[in-house]
Amino acid sequence: MRIAIIGTGYVGLTTGACLAAIGHEVTCLDNNAAKVETLRQGKVPIFEPFIEEILEEAKDRMRFTQSYAEAIPGADVVFIAVGTPSMADGSPDLRYLREAAASIGEHLGEGFTVVVNKSTVPIGSGNWVESLIRESRGGRNGKVEFAVASNPEFLREGSALQDSLYPDRIVVGADSPRAVDVLTNLYRPILEQSFIAPSYLKRPEGMAAAPLVTTDLASAELIKYAANSFLALKISYINEIGRLAEK
Ligand SMILES: NC(=O)c1ccc[n+]([C@@H]2O[C@H](COP(=O)([O-])OP(=O)(O)OC[C@H]3O[C@@H](n4cnc5c(N)ncnc54)[C@H](O)[C@@H]3O)[C@@H](O)[C@H]2O)c1
Repeated sequence: MRIAIIGTGYVGLTTGACLAAIGHEVTCLDNNAAKVETLRQGKVPIFEPFIEEILEEAKDRMRFTQSYAEAIPGADVVFIAVGTPSMADGSPDLRYLREAAASIGEHLGEGFTVVVNKSTVPIGSGNWVESLIRESRGGRNGKVEFAVASNPEFLREGSALQDSLYPDRIVVGADSPRAVDVLTNLYRPILEQSFIAPSYLKRPEGMAAAPLVTTDLASAELIKYAANSFLALKISYINEIGRLAEK
């Protein structure tokens, strides 16, 4: 499949590398010119074990660009992986998401495209992204068809490639069954663990498949918040137990 990834930061780059490594054609887009140039020169702007190796292995199926006109029109699936940093009041800054959605809308090509939100976003953002895309098309729909899906990211920095190739679950939320089918096909090599494992990222012993959790769009967005807050809860809990143990 042809994939475009908007935002080539930690999540975008590792996702792009893993999807290219399992056989997809991936265009990674970033609006940071210096980052795109660094990647084109074969250098890696993040620290992540084995990222150089996997990018080298997948390089014939990966391109880096700043141009939406180059990345979007031919893509079957467009991932949004831009940053959503917290603002002073704790709410997420969604300006990058808004810009990315509008630019995607301007460049969607003919045929069916699934726009997938991988960034961590408040519940309801998928519907907002859909309306931003429609708005930016301004009625020029012709043969363009798209659906928005949510595919939250659970990777941990430092074991991002291991977490992406050998996940303990993949969550796909969409209100369009066609979008769910496209994403199931996209992830099939990982779901069925049918890809050849790289020598430097061995498949965990006994792993035969990865579970796919399919939900509606809003539920997938909620799952990410539930997972993040559960992690915070576990850390707070064990810290309390630690304090008690000290006493
Ligand atoms: N890093 C993690 O461990 C992690 C794990 C799970 C989820 N997430 C979530 O994934 C999302 C991405 O996180 P990250 O750590 O990869 O962020 P990052 O800051 O490393 O990367 C974001 C990239 O998006 C680019 N960008 C911003 N606006 C753009 C636009 N309009 N068009 C093109 N590119 C644009 C930036 O230049 C940057 O390179 C966030 O929502 C984050 O919360 C991150």
